Amino acid sequence: MTLIRKNFDVLIIGAGGAGLNAAVQLAGADLRVAVVSKVFPTRSHTVAAQGGVNAALGNVDEDKWHWHMFDTVKGSDYLGDQDAIEFMCREAIPTVYELEHNGVPFSRLDNGRIYQRPFGGQSRHFGKEQATRTCAAADRTGHAILHTLYQQNLKARSHFFTEYFAIDLLQDQEGGVTGALVMDISSGEPMVLNARATLLATGGCGQVFRTTSNAHINTGDGMAMALRAGVPLQDMEFFQFHPTGVAGRGMLITEASRGEGGYLINKEGERFMERYAPSAKDLASRDVVARAIVTEVREGRGCGPNGDHVLLKVDHLGEETVARRLPGIRETSKIFVGIDPAFEPIPVYPTAHYVMGGIPSDRFGRVVAPARHGPEEVVPGLYAAGECACVSVHGANRLGGNSLLDILVFGRLSGLDILDYLEEHPRHGQTDSASEEKAMARFQRFDREGDGIPVAELRAELQKVMEDHAGVFRTEEIMQEGLDRMRSIRDRLDEVRLKDRSRTFNTARVEAFELENLVDVGLSIVTSALHRQESRGAHSRPDFPERDDRNWMRHSLYFLEDDRLDYKPVRTRPLSVDSFPPKERVY
Ligand code: FUM
Repeated sequence: MTLIRKNFDVLIIGAGGAGLNAAVQLAGADLRVAVVSKVFPTRSHTVAAQGGVNAALGNVDEDKWHWHMFDTVKGSDYLGDQDAIEFMCREAIPTVYELEHNGVPFSRLDNGRIYQRPFGGQSRHFGKEQATRTCAAADRTGHAILHTLYQQNLKARSHFFTEYFAIDLLQDQEGGVTGALVMDISSGEPMVLNARATLLATGGCGQVFRTTSNAHINTGDGMAMALRAGVPLQDMEFFQFHPTGVAGRGMLITEASRGEGGYLINKEGERFMERYAPSAKDLASRDVVARAIVTEVREGRGCGPNGDHVLLKVDHLGEETVARRLPGIRETSKIFVGIDPAFEPIPVYPTAHYVMGGIPSDRFGRVVAPARHGPEEVVPGLYAAGECACVSVHGANRLGGNSLLDILVFGRLSGLDILDYLEEHPRHGQTDSASEEKAMARFQRFDREGDGIPVAELRAELQKVMEDHAGVFRTEEIMQEGLDRMRSIRDRLDEVRLKDRSRTFNTARVEAFELENLVDVGLSIVTSALHRQESRGAHSRPDFPERDDRNWMRHSLYFLEDDRLDYKPVRTRPLSVDSFPPKERVY
């Protein structure tokens, strides 16, 4: 077989908001830009983002980026890097205006300005009163943004490799990244894409859990590729459970439901968030609300015949408001639970939603990792942006509306930084033959048929283990068992077989690659969680119920080799303002 090889200046893996916003920045620069996506670009998971994107535009109430910064630092439970957070909150404002100018059809206020709604964990005057900061296109904001960015890329003639699956990164002898080996899903043929700079923008890994708001495609591919290239994953113990997934199914019911005035009740009809967060109530930050719901259910106040969920009420808002502001969740509720929320409450329960951790990168998208057995440095030629990256602006808990913001700000900055990088690196690197052989070996790994373990069986087992052993509340005992079971799953990957290759679409092979990625990423979550002996943000340990700033104000780094962990300090100094010192976090 002759291996097809193509040269590009930039390779972007992933066509969600981060990848496409990076590609748009490169568009005017007469560069060859390849965008690889395993699905049609507008099916990337950004399309599913509902409630909106945060920016202190002040269209409804006075607002300031500094208040947005305060909320984000507090929301992160003080684990976020304050220089990066300041940068993101300042950049939010021009970023949203750039989107508006590029054609994103935001909802509008009566005066024609961009519509903004309240979201959880937001405040004005540093915690004093609720802010109204989330810019929205009804409850389909991600859809509006992704389609606009895709159109901008078509206009800019970015070269799309649609339905190509990235197998592994390629590296030179020093560990610099020189491109990737990809597979054309329709033909099953491998192809080498050489690039002077490679951006990982592959999104999240919610499919490690059984009940998730994430699409089937969110399998942590970029994170696992980074791990295999020797780059650690940062802060993977912090996984966000969105409070309101459709009970038992996991689809997202946007926080905008509560932002628009909806609220949660238990089986007694009690508005229970008043007990857990007397001031912010249903708009407390997500970790707080998710824990409250799980506690209500565990203590016997859950709803339904099995007492296994709570109810989200928006029916008091009136049909007109539900139709205008929340049409997407109305449709979701009707389809999946046969309930019209304009008239009846929706059964909800926390659902795995977002990983705060990821590939360690700086605010220019450059991947920053300990060199082989040395101090931390930039990995030449490698960038990461969006959910697969950890900048870190979300720390231990992300605020709703900061995810679209993250992908847009850091996607944009990655694109701009790549322009500078290419000026300094005019030639392609030389791929090490050992790196290419390793990638080819992975490409052939699942090309085996017979009666071994089916991919779907092992994937379902993995998702159940993660749900049972790395959920909203975790103890040492529960996580240790989870780690042992995850390791057993990793050992059994060698027994995975595709049933009958002559009758199997290549999508079955893709699912096998995805399974391996899920295993690597799942192990990074459980290992990092087991070792962090405190409760902070989304990482909640009944056996270590307090936050421990003295010992644990540090980021974890998980390395694939030997499941090793290391730690590095949190950057507490912002760029231009005073630092927000850790305080007790109350809402
Ligand atoms: O609830 C939501 O609309 C989700 C938003 C987010 O995760 O940022």
